[in-house]
Amino acid sequence: MPATAIPTSTELLEIAVVVAREAAELAARRRSEGVEVADTKSSAVDVVTHTDREVETFVRGRLAELHPGDGFFGEEGDPDDSTTGLTWVVDPIDGTVNFVYGIPQWAVSIAVVDGGPDPLTWRTLAAVVVNPTSGETFTASTGGGAWLNGRRLAVNAPASLELSLLATGFSYGAARRVEHAEALVRVVGRVRDLRRMGAASLDLCAVAAGRVDAYVERGLKPWDHAAGALVAAEAGAVVRGEIGEAPSESLTFVAAPTIADDLAALVVEARI
Ligand code: IPD
Repeated sequence: MPATAIPTSTELLEIAVVVAREAAELAARRRSEGVEVADTKSSAVDVVTHTDREVETFVRGRLAELHPGDGFFGEEGDPDDSTTGLTWVVDPIDGTVNFVYGIPQWAVSIAVVDGGPDPLTWRTLAAVVVNPTSGETFTASTGGGAWLNGRRLAVNAPASLELSLLATGFSYGAARRVEHAEALVRVVGRVRDLRRMGAASLDLCAVAAGRVDAYVERGLKPWDHAAGALVAAEAGAVVRGEIGEAPSESLTFVAAPTIADDLAALVVEARI
């Protein structure tokens, strides 16, 4: 495809899948060779490994080769401006702490959006999340549905909030973690149970796949939710941030439609 042609979401998805699978293979190979923490970021427990950086550099280079001129917005490096209007939003390893510990719940997450690096204004066109350990590739394109290794995904239809399995996560700031834990005390008796699996992109895909019924977290960075949010939306989930807004660092709210209103009320009541 010439770089000047306006690509369709399907064409962009093809590029995203090729690059995400190559990146996932690289990350898995490095994992098997041993992991070294390179640095810390927002707090002492917010780590970055050499592999996070290597994989992001790899993804940036491959995308520039396959679709030059697009912007790049990744977790580990400086953003690149776009000359095409498209921006790739990339988490080279989502679930870094799981990656470090060898918990098989981490992923390469790549989304391509129409717009700049602001989740409140961008429109996500295509998304892929690859968990190399499980061999699972979640994909979605706008209007094209959500898929797991070629199988179409649809969210659950839980009968009530009390019968719903809710996933969540904790950001890296200690004060915010404590606040969230306190809010969860007010939530845990109102739902079937809670899950904290450690990789937001995969949590969002888990809603799409019916492995959980909903997911709520505050403090996610754009690269954590960009791809998974489209997978969840295309599987039929209600996906939003604060009321009337798209998902953002302030709030990522994803729920099966049958319980979305009740969960939204609980988020307010429990002060999540
Ligand atoms: C983290 C994971 C985790 C979520 C954190 C994120 P990272 O991303 O997605 O599940 O709870 O808020 O920061 O740092 O592993 O890319």
